[in-house]
Amino acid sequence: MDSQIKLLAPSILSGDFSRIGEQIKEAEEAGADIIHLDVMDGRYVPNITFGMPVIKSLRKVSDLPFDAHLMIVEPEKYVDEFIDAGANMISFHMDATIHSHRLVERIKKRDVKAGVVLNPATPVNTIEEIIHYIDYVLIMSVNPGFGGQKFIPEVLGKIPKLKRLMEETGRTDLLIEIDGGINQNNIREVSEYGINIFVAGSAVFGKGSIKENIKVLKENMIVMV
Ligand code: DX5
Ligand code: ZN
Repeated sequence: MDSQIKLLAPSILSGDFSRIGEQIKEAEEAGADIIHLDVMDGRYVPNITFGMPVIKSLRKVSDLPFDAHLMIVEPEKYVDEFIDAGANMISFHMDATIHSHRLVERIKKRDVKAGVVLNPATPVNTIEEIIHYIDYVLIMSVNPGFGGQKFIPEVLGKIPKLKRLMEETGRTDLLIEIDGGINQNNIREVSEYGINIFVAGSAVFGKGSIKENIKVLKENMIVMV
C-alpha cells in the first residue's frame, strides 16, 4: 500500500556547494531515499540556484532517484533537458505554465514521474482535473524560494482534503510529498497526516552531522496503519 511508503528526500539547497558531491554520498550512506533538487530561476521565486549542468555532474556521484522541484516559469522549455541531465521525478508549479496537462504528458512519456506543487495559499481543488494524470503532489509548507524557513502549520489542513480528492477520483496510489521547514521536532507530527515523501534541507545539511540528522529524521517518520 502506498500509504505505507515513507521516504526521506534531503534538499541539497542547504548543503555546502564546495563539497556537495561528498555530502550527497554521505546522505546516501546514512539512508537518504531520494535527492531533492531545488531549481530556482529568479522569476518564479526571488532566488536563483542551479540548473541542468549541476544536476548532470551530480548524477555521477549518486544512484538515488533525483527529484527536481522546478521553481521556474515556463518549465516546459526545459523539462527535456532536466530529464537528460538525470532527473527521475519532476514537479512544477501549475501557475508557472499554461498547459499543465501537456507538460505532465511530456514528462511521463519519458518515463519520469510527474508531480504538481501546491504553494501554501493554493487550494487543493486546483488539481481536481490534473489528478488523473500525475504521480505525486508536492505540498509546500513554506513559501518557495529559500531554505531554512519556518513550517506553516495551516498547510496540514490541506492533507485530509487531498486524501478525500484522492478517494473520490480513485487515485489513492498518488504519493504526497511535503517540502519546507521539516525538522527533527515536527516530522513525527507531520507524518501522522500520512505523507509519503519528506523533504528536509537545513535539518539535514544545517548543523551537526548529516548521518545523525538523517537517522533522527528517519526514526520519526512513522507509518500510519
Ligand atoms: C524551498 C524549497 C525547499 C527547501 C527545503 O523553496 O523548495 O526544498 O529548500 O529546505 P528546508 O528544509 O530548510 O525548509
Ligand atoms: Zn523543494
